[in-house]
Amino acid sequence: MSEITFTNVSRSFERDGNMFLAVDSVSLTVRDREFVAIVGPSGCGKTTCMRMAAGLEFPTAGQVTVSGKEVISPGPDRAVVFQQFALFPWKTVSENIDFGLRAKGLDEAERRRIVEHNIALMNLRGYETAFPHQLSGGMQQRVAIARAYALDPDVLLMDEPFGALDAQTRVVMQEELVKLARLNPRTVLFITHAVDEAVYLADRVVIMTSRPGKIKEILDVKAVRDAENWDQHSRIEDVMDLASFVHLRTRIWKSLREEHAGDDH
Ligand SMILES: Nc1ncnc2c1ncn2[C@@H]1O[C@H](COP(=O)(O)OP(=O)(O)O)[C@@H](O)[C@H]1O
Ligand SMILES: [Mg+2]
Repeated sequence: MSEITFTNVSRSFERDGNMFLAVDSVSLTVRDREFVAIVGPSGCGKTTCMRMAAGLEFPTAGQVTVSGKEVISPGPDRAVVFQQFALFPWKTVSENIDFGLRAKGLDEAERRRIVEHNIALMNLRGYETAFPHQLSGGMQQRVAIARAYALDPDVLLMDEPFGALDAQTRVVMQEELVKLARLNPRTVLFITHAVDEAVYLADRVVIMTSRPGKIKEILDVKAVRDAENWDQHSRIEDVMDLASFVHLRTRIWKSLREEHAGDDH
């Protein structure tokens, strides 16, 4: 059972000698093997929430737990993919993906199998021995995603992981992630500013308010997906054409637009 819970979580930061509230009393449970996407205006505290689940940042009030334990540090139960990929520059593509597997203590044959599988999945064949600086930004991000998937963690934390990809690669990654998520469900917290992506991927979509970030509403996408049988379509464009999809997307857009209307700028 891997659940992520935020209980009345607030986080303040200091700016110019004053404290300001970035995240305001967020309470949310990402249930075991549920895929939750967070959307919200930029600066509303999405990344801060993610970093608190990863154990890279801590609440000033409230508590974050994973699998019932308070998060006090990063851990091997949680794999993290950020928009800013963090590969080891001195390691090859294969070595980067293999790194976490070594730490898990798997034998060499098993590690090689997992590395090869994820290289194929992320369309990185032929680049096994390349170094990060020899790859485009999109390819580096695919290595970072392969590395996270290879760990097969109970909890996957993804902060705008597809943000740097070109449109075609992004669609391939989204379709792959949906396939993976349905075949081998993990507990996923996923941040995006792309509303389509959130509705396509997630079981529930959390909409946050502009600063300080609070939860504004939570939409149950899975109920609609199951009722309207979205999964009979394998292509994202076919799902995005469905009236039930368009309806949800429009609802979220309207809700986000209200937040932007409230901005000072
Ligand atoms: N370490 C930090 N120190 C000071 N301010 C921070 C820090 N991290 C984030 N912030 C501020 O907190 C707010 C929320 O940031 P962030 O969580 O990155 O938002 P989002 O990911 O939704 O765009 C922003 O105003 C940001 O400048
Ligand atoms: Mg962010």
